[in-house]
Amino acid sequence: MNFHVLTLFPDMINTVARTSIMGRAIASGAVALNVINIRDFSIHGTKRVDDYPYGGGAGMVMEPEPIFQAVMKAKEAAGSSARVIYLTPAAKVLDQLKAEELAKEQDLILLCGHYEGIDDRVLEEVVDENISIGDYVLTGGELGACVLMDAVSRFVQGVLHNDESSQVESHQDNLLEYPQFTRPEVWHDKAVPKVLLSGDHQKILEWRHAQSVERTKERRPDLFEKSFKVTVLYFGSEAASEFAEKLSVRVSRYPVLLDYSRAKLVKQKRSFGASDLVIVITDTPEEASKRMERIHADRSPLICISTEEDPQQNRSFFEERGFCPKQSFRLTGEQGVSDAEELAFRIRKLAGEFLKN
Ligand code: ADE
Repeated sequence: MNFHVLTLFPDMINTVARTSIMGRAIASGAVALNVINIRDFSIHGTKRVDDYPYGGGAGMVMEPEPIFQAVMKAKEAAGSSARVIYLTPAAKVLDQLKAEELAKEQDLILLCGHYEGIDDRVLEEVVDENISIGDYVLTGGELGACVLMDAVSRFVQGVLHNDESSQVESHQDNLLEYPQFTRPEVWHDKAVPKVLLSGDHQKILEWRHAQSVERTKERRPDLFEKSFKVTVLYFGSEAASEFAEKLSVRVSRYPVLLDYSRAKLVKQKRSFGASDLVIVITDTPEEASKRMERIHADRSPLICISTEEDPQQNRSFFEERGFCPKQSFRLTGEQGVSDAEELAFRIRKLAGEFLKN
């Protein structure tokens, strides 16, 4: 990932971005940072880059030409199709999904504004996307650019060591992080929850999920509204079950995996609600009606992944059972980890979209 930051305050970017984990990422080459001083493109001998606003009003406005030239300079290094992002409070707020999406770019050009803003004509000409880091006004876009770079970098290969990263993190599945504890076992008369000392991984996972849910409901009910309980049902060959495993842990931290090649499960009644996201993975989709006739849903969104040429073939069967089929994906041949990662990202993105409807 190459970040190109256009700013009037290069020291601010360098100081923040070259520290801690981002600093380590830059030093190792996992991330590159190219800081461009907009003042170098001033069209005045005094190096001024701003002027009074037409129509009057407080403050100064940044002139279009230095910004335009700075973007052109960044594009010489980044390529003409590199995405240009303007950090501004007048935009949609950055979230974890957006950070993950931006990490897929090779180059990002980040434009930091100052004073009362930037001449709108140049923004119209060069900016691909406006991003805010929160609903408050900062003195400039630099801290926004640093926040964005930090959040994006965490998704870049090689930035986090294995023990620092997990496949799906807090916020990626719209649930907040569960509480963490370290030694001592008792501190200020407060003991670490017993379950964490039990060594029972399933129990610990369940406890953490419950804590995440409770915290999200209490602190961020808006986020909780957007969270799903993910259940992955699979049947067919070994390849289908392997892919189900790879995919499920990349969609959610707390997926439920159900093996529908097991007769016992097929015989059980099971029902899903509107906040369940159900993913069916199979390479024998013609068996769906036989294996899933005891499953009922009350408007649960459904994603089907199968090897079929026409992955929609079971649509009416699932609709009759109360599912809302949202999208089908075709499973082809060998499905590696990167396919699972890409598909999991698309599913999380889709889940965010159909929640808005
Ligand atoms: N510049 C000023 N305020 C900002 C904000 N909230 N997000 C991004 N850039 C900004």
